[in-house]
Amino acid sequence: MSKLAILSGAGISAESGLKTFRDAGGLWEQYPVMEVASYEGWLKNPELVLEFYNQRRKQACQAVPNAGHRILAELEQWFQVTVITQNVDALHEKAGSSRVIHLHGELSKVRSSTHPSYIREIGDKEIHIGDCCPMGGQLRPHIVWFGESVPLFEEAIPYVEEADYFAIVGTSLNVYPAAGLLGYFPLNRPVFVIDPNEVPVPTSRKAVFIRKGAGEGAAVLKELLLKLEKLTP
Ligand code: OAD
Repeated sequence: MSKLAILSGAGISAESGLKTFRDAGGLWEQYPVMEVASYEGWLKNPELVLEFYNQRRKQACQAVPNAGHRILAELEQWFQVTVITQNVDALHEKAGSSRVIHLHGELSKVRSSTHPSYIREIGDKEIHIGDCCPMGGQLRPHIVWFGESVPLFEEAIPYVEEADYFAIVGTSLNVYPAAGLLGYFPLNRPVFVIDPNEVPVPTSRKAVFIRKGAGEGAAVLKELLLKLEKLTP
């Protein structure tokens, strides 16, 4: 089976009703990013940060996967698929994808601000000031904030290096190191980019741009990949 690595971003969840960050009307227009998504912001106003992620968690839990998520999951019938996502929702898993690496953390988990190895599932529950781990540390969202390291980045690299195909779906490639994963994919292999807008992919790449939303775009990707592999749907 050929290997497919997918790097996804907020655009794939847009068709499930979750806002992207940098599009017009996106989250970073509504909220000051460094106030709600940085360690400095957390120290300055933890209530605001908890409230921001309580809202995100509630919305993400109510959202359902769209055709984009479903088609990427379906591709496991023909390919060894690894989804490397910047998204903190669980829509890839809900659609049936079996290997998902969450580079930027997961909304349904919390961790202790004093004992980082204390990580727990909370589902759709809210967290508030005073909610602590057994050792007494305040609980915080299990999210990678700006300025923090991305512990799962190293785990993602070999899946990209060894992939036969790489697909970039719904990400503006603004945020590193996630955007840098493309650099690990062999130059002579094809990259597919699904996004209704322009995405900065170096011209040295053999890129196929699918200028569509995630649902329609994933259907085109499936058709192209099956044709390349001489497989039938
Ligand atoms: P962005 O908001 O930067 O980019 C969203 C991308 O999705 C853009 O390229 C849009 O053109 C595209 N898009 C919009 N609608 C789409 C649709 N229906 N189908 C497909 N694509 C669509 O979001 P990300 O690149 O995911 O990190 O942002 C990366 C990181 O920046 C996030 O993980 C988050 C944010 O700050 C943290 O909070 C740490």
